[in-house]
Amino acid sequence: MEEQIKAMRQKIEAAAAAITDSKEMYQLRKQYLDNKAGQISALMKNMRDLAPEDRPAFGKIVNELKTWALDFFTAQDARLKAAELAKKNAAEQIDVTMPAKPHKAGALHPNTLIANELIDIFAGMGFTIFEGPEIENDYYNFTALNTPKDHPARDMQDTFYVSPELLLRTQTSAGQIRVMEKNQPPIKILSPGKVFRSDDDATHSPMFSQMEGLVVDKGITLCDLQGMLDVFAQNVFGENVKTRLRPSYFPFTEPSVEVDVSCFECGGKGCRLCKDTGWIEVLGAGMVNRKVLENCGVDPDVYTGFAFGMGIERIAMLKYGIPNIKMLFESDVRVLSQFNE
Ligand code: PHE
Repeated sequence: MEEQIKAMRQKIEAAAAAITDSKEMYQLRKQYLDNKAGQISALMKNMRDLAPEDRPAFGKIVNELKTWALDFFTAQDARLKAAELAKKNAAEQIDVTMPAKPHKAGALHPNTLIANELIDIFAGMGFTIFEGPEIENDYYNFTALNTPKDHPARDMQDTFYVSPELLLRTQTSAGQIRVMEKNQPPIKILSPGKVFRSDDDATHSPMFSQMEGLVVDKGITLCDLQGMLDVFAQNVFGENVKTRLRPSYFPFTEPSVEVDVSCFECGGKGCRLCKDTGWIEVLGAGMVNRKVLENCGVDPDVYTGFAFGMGIERIAMLKYGIPNIKMLFESDVRVLSQFNE
């Protein structure tokens, strides 16, 4: 009988020596120590076949085997679990000295930089923002702006029509009508947005962005326009920059002007940027035409106003020295990452 016990003990030791996984070890433990099906429990059942005087001695050695096995498996379990934990820790180790993956920070698009700058400048003078729709009625884009269907000025802008009455707005000036139709003066709004014209070369794109300004109140004059544009020009292009107004034509302003800034590159002496003229054209503007005020239900005998509209890409190209408008639409990170200030 003792031989049998000894053999079982050796069998357990041999089986355990071949096991490297704590789950497998648990299975082995069950095989011997399970209360019902375990082989050691089965030994106890053999007791019935023994003579009564042999039973105590047999019970003792089986119990010793059981105590030994319990200790043995507890130790095996601890050994394997410790090894497994060590392995897991080694696999999850973080090398804090490893160089980080390079991570490029994004940059604001030059259009966004200019639009933000303009909004900051004009908000400082009390302007609020109005945004109109990109698909516009012919009425708001043209007719109400004193540009009826047969007006030759419609040819100034090659329009994308969506239907006979709907079009992709060609100018943010459409917003002037939407604002004045709903609000009586005083009005002081700045209106940024995308506009569309069938036009495509190094300085023109079929989609570009404009910033419109509109001020209507009692006693507004062209001097107010120039004063505000001086603030704009000096903030965007430099303290010493001057503005000049040249006569021009827009159906919705009377008089109409083109606004030039003195060349910030050469100080007005003449250079490549200003084509030796000393001046650079930056925007169109004028006093709001009486007819436009009337179209919106604003009394032109009581109120006057001015409006201006500038191309955001044009300002960005001038300010950052970008030679081709396409560079603003190609999303080339090597170009765009240069302008974050
Ligand atoms: N809407 C004109 C254009 O796109 C610019 C402009 C705006 C002119 C406001 C006068 C007043 O060319």
